Amino acid sequence: MDASGQRKENLNSGPPSLTAAQRSNFAPLTARTYTAWRRRSLGLLAGRPFSLAQETALFLGQCRPQPGEWWLDAGTSTGFYAGLLARAGCRVLAVDLSPAMLREAARQQPHDHIDWAVMNVESNDLPEGRFDGVTVGATLNETHDPARFLQGAARVLRPGGQLWMMYLLRTAGPVQSVLSVPTLGGLHFPDPAWVSADLPGCTLVHGLTLGAVRFERYLRPPVASL
Ligand SMILES: C[S@@+](CC[C@H](N)C(=O)[O-])C[C@H]1O[C@@H](n2cnc3c(N)ncnc32)[C@H](O)[C@@H]1O
Repeated sequence: MDASGQRKENLNSGPPSLTAAQRSNFAPLTARTYTAWRRRSLGLLAGRPFSLAQETALFLGQCRPQPGEWWLDAGTSTGFYAGLLARAGCRVLAVDLSPAMLREAARQQPHDHIDWAVMNVESNDLPEGRFDGVTVGATLNETHDPARFLQGAARVLRPGGQLWMMYLLRTAGPVQSVLSVPTLGGLHFPDPAWVSADLPGCTLVHGLTLGAVRFERYLRPPVASL
């Protein structure tokens, strides 16, 4: 059983109908090299030095995850956010489409507060309102259907829960145009207004843009008392 209270899926099962970018994450070589890229990528994309330590400080300072909370790390790859949350004392369900990424994540971020599971967040059947928080570290860019992904992530937040996102913004640059072509990646580069419109009922409480990198924290409002 995992943090969702459901049985874990088989790490070797593969989901159907994925974008080229999503499929690329199934390669063991992608999984083995991802963490090295992750260390440098935000600095390159932000156009200024921006280390994992700075990202960690930003996330912990904004979200203040508390011991005993339940978090979903949606598209965990090699478990950067899952590891942070577990070390803060949270219980984490860390999910990804890619079994290869999850195997690498479990090796790099071993922690008994983390459950790793193959799952497509765009079609998840996790219980509604199950989590205190959801982290989405650049997963939005790689989804097949970003609107469905956001709905799937927001649905599992409890009232008052928080959604933390880091994604790459639309810049209208030629590289993004190429990577958006379905056969060459099928990546999405949303703008914040679009993201906000696809999170009805959630409130943006923090937004920070560094070059092409955007960080956002949303809250699902608490249920109004009668
Ligand atoms: C850019 S990586 C994210 C890295 C990680 N969140 C981090 O902050 O380092 C995107 C990951 O999301 C996964 N992914 C893409 N679409 C997904 C979906 N619909 N459901 C679950 N995982 C997905 C990919 O397999 C990939 O490992």
